[in-house]
Amino acid sequence: MNIGVIGGAGYVGLVTGLGFAELGHHVTSVDVNEERIKRLQSGQTPIHEEGLLPVLERNLGDGNIEFSTSFPDAVEGQDVVFIAVGTPAQDDGQADLSQVIEVAERLVDLMESYTVVVIKSTVPVGTVELVQSILNREKAEGMDFDIVSNPEFLREGKGMIDFFYPDRIVVGTRSERAREAMHELYRPLIAGNIAETTGRAPLPADIAPEERPVPLVETDLASAQMIKYASNAFLATRISFINEIARLCEEVDANINEVARGMGYDPRIGSSYLDAGLGFGGPCLEKDLKALIKIAEANDYEPRLLREVLGRNDQQVREVIGKVKELTGYLLYKKIVAVWGLAFKSGTNDVRNSLAFRVVEALEREGAEVQAHDPMALDEARALHPNIHYFDDPYEAAANADAVVLATDWPQYAELDFDEVKRRMARPAIVDGRNLLDRDMLMTEGFRYLSMGRA
Ligand code: UDX
Repeated sequence: MNIGVIGGAGYVGLVTGLGFAELGHHVTSVDVNEERIKRLQSGQTPIHEEGLLPVLERNLGDGNIEFSTSFPDAVEGQDVVFIAVGTPAQDDGQADLSQVIEVAERLVDLMESYTVVVIKSTVPVGTVELVQSILNREKAEGMDFDIVSNPEFLREGKGMIDFFYPDRIVVGTRSERAREAMHELYRPLIAGNIAETTGRAPLPADIAPEERPVPLVETDLASAQMIKYASNAFLATRISFINEIARLCEEVDANINEVARGMGYDPRIGSSYLDAGLGFGGPCLEKDLKALIKIAEANDYEPRLLREVLGRNDQQVREVIGKVKELTGYLLYKKIVAVWGLAFKSGTNDVRNSLAFRVVEALEREGAEVQAHDPMALDEARALHPNIHYFDDPYEAAANADAVVLATDWPQYAELDFDEVKRRMARPAIVDGRNLLDRDMLMTEGFRYLSMGRA
């Protein structure tokens, strides 16, 4: 099929476009970001994503994907058009839909024949209807176009894997014709035999777990949009829940790792998303939770639980700062604190809404001097927060520090030479905001060490 992706150089659009190209469709990815499009045209990736580069290279080579900055290219002659533009949070938490609206307005004049318009961006319930009414002003639904809500569940860093081996595919639409088109698009994934269906060489090993059929959830438009919000809100709830239990573990001398391990064996609970720590950061979980709260408010419902999930997450940064004070003394003024890890999680160079920066800001507010390190996200961090002292080397970042705060779960921090770290620091003290380091080893080495929920 011929597919256009609008917002094709953004994270979701890029992974989606490449995924469909790999499945054998012809994809035209369009984006307003000229620099990113140029890089992609020359086979370079603007984002760090496991397995993305080889998929980009071979689909550019085979002519399955094209990148363009010309909006009409994404629409003219396409069977299916994906809208994957951003829906950033406004100051009050409500999703900003201006890009989606603009796309719908431009789209309508360019659709030449029947087109399936798929909303991939995470949008509040009702947005699909809004897009529909914009398109309906010029065209007739069912004749000229149909609308589909097809939310994404891509984890950053693992986006390609999540595209090819999703836990489920959600398709919300009223139209049988659009439903069939979506089925055709996703056929190799639903059947769980990508190589066999496409006849192409197998995917690179690092993004190819065992193939299995994938459940297709065909539903109505509103439910499809809610599935996305509810899923992210539930993941956030698990994290806030385990952080609450971690705090209680500290009070009763229990160990959260042991508690989570014991809970996880229950299949009704499961073991994922039970890592206590600094909390959930990044571009999605908090944004979607806030948007869901706004949806509730708009419908005169008081979402008490959701508010508390958010509140519990905000508390985590304060808890970490409290632990720094416990180790260094109450006054942080002129203390030197190293922050290890700036990406919102390991495996990505994305620093958007990273809790590490909230830690940095809280430390600076109290007069501390921050020395920051990240193995992958320094350029992105500099661009967003130019005034912090950055270091390429974690040992240098720890030099003369009164404490180190580990804010991102990069595994390489656990491999450092802690003798050397200790030699460099003014006083050997570590707050492990991700429960990553070997507590016993550090304490034997003479560090004062605090983590999250491990008494
Ligand atoms: C998330 C969802 O997982 C994905 O399905 C959705 O489509 C987009 O949002 P992502 O934002 O990439 O993906 O990050 P995720 O891996 O979910 O982690 C989010 C945050 O929660 C990170 O800051 C991470 O460190 C934190 N986290 C995660 C925990 O603190 N504990 C956990 O157990 C898991």
